Amino acid sequence: MKHQSPSIPQEQLRDLVLEHTAVAQLVIDPSQRLQYLNPAAEILFGISANKAQGHKMVAVVDISCDIDKGIERVEESDFPYTEREVELHFINGEQAIVDCSLIPLGEQRILVELQQVGQHLRIQNEERLLHQNRASADLLRGLAHEIKNPLGGLRGAAQLLESELPDPALKEYTEVIIGEADRLQSLLDQMLGPNRPPQMAETNLHELLERVRTLVLAEASSGKLTIQRDYDPSIPSFPADRDLMIQALLNIVKNAAQSLNNCGEIQLRTRVKRQVTIGNQRHRLVCSLEIEDSGPGISEELRNTIFLPMVTGRSEGTGLGLSIAQSIVQRQGGVIECESKPGQTIFTLLIPLESRA
Ligand SMILES: Nc1ncnc2c1ncn2[C@@H]1O[C@H](COP(=O)(O)OP(=O)(O)O)[C@@H](O)[C@H]1O
Ligand SMILES: [Mg+2]
Repeated sequence: MKHQSPSIPQEQLRDLVLEHTAVAQLVIDPSQRLQYLNPAAEILFGISANKAQGHKMVAVVDISCDIDKGIERVEESDFPYTEREVELHFINGEQAIVDCSLIPLGEQRILVELQQVGQHLRIQNEERLLHQNRASADLLRGLAHEIKNPLGGLRGAAQLLESELPDPALKEYTEVIIGEADRLQSLLDQMLGPNRPPQMAETNLHELLERVRTLVLAEASSGKLTIQRDYDPSIPSFPADRDLMIQALLNIVKNAAQSLNNCGEIQLRTRVKRQVTIGNQRHRLVCSLEIEDSGPGISEELRNTIFLPMVTGRSEGTGLGLSIAQSIVQRQGGVIECESKPGQTIFTLLIPLESRA
């Protein structure tokens, strides 16, 4: 049985699909000049269809594989041809790995479809990360609750005992119990996160970043730490819990400062991105914030687990900073990703601005 929505005509649906597909599509004529780019191709190449039209494809992008051979093959055989994991180099210096399909359209025109492979991997990785983080956060919350109650009892009993002790010298011991109970309590409070409903307010990301920058610079107090900013002024404000967002940002920027021993450079970079998938949700508009440091990088054995609670590489660390930051950003519908190698660590926060894709 055929189901057809009577409200949207097929043509309109087709246009919608073309406009929103994540696959970059372009049509080239027999002399390899660009005749058409869909919006995904405009985003991938960073060029408007108007500007690109009539230009040779090689003027816009340098393709590592021998695309001429592929095109010849398609022209001769009149059959589609696909090459996997092709490297693209854009004029702005950026790169992407794509699966490239060449499809004959007749009259020696060819439809070139480029599907980003990196994007694929990113989505899979993110889903794993979101899932892992949620599962371990739930487990730890449960555990933290279970420990908190008897801890309160222990502390209360130690206080009572202290007031009954005949010899004041013995107080030394009850003080240890009370002090350690307090330390555990504050650790558990951190693990449980804020004990209040989120307070959403229109938030300007750059204002938060400036706050965080001032705080981290003041704490470093070495005078040898610099925090450079490269802000995209077109980022609109968005509803968020300001205090929580500041905490998330602080956790990441502080880690960067610590990795540099408060001596070196951190960069804060913001950009607007279009049509980004986070988890399984596609967003029309997303704000991307990169926090980059030139420190030694995250050690290999920690790299896949740093967002899990209690994972730390520092003797005085709690391993809660990144797990809390990830939870806060996830509550905002976003995600934090990380790429690290010696000399360059980048934490990227993706925060949805407009959900409707
Ligand atoms: N920018 C960074 N450079 C190098 N290592 C980092 C960076 N950010 C985080 N890490 C590593 O990740 C670990 C976990 O960080 P976090 O969750 O904030 O816990 P903590 O700071 O208490 O150790 C850190 O101990 C450190 O080993
Ligand atoms: Mg930390």
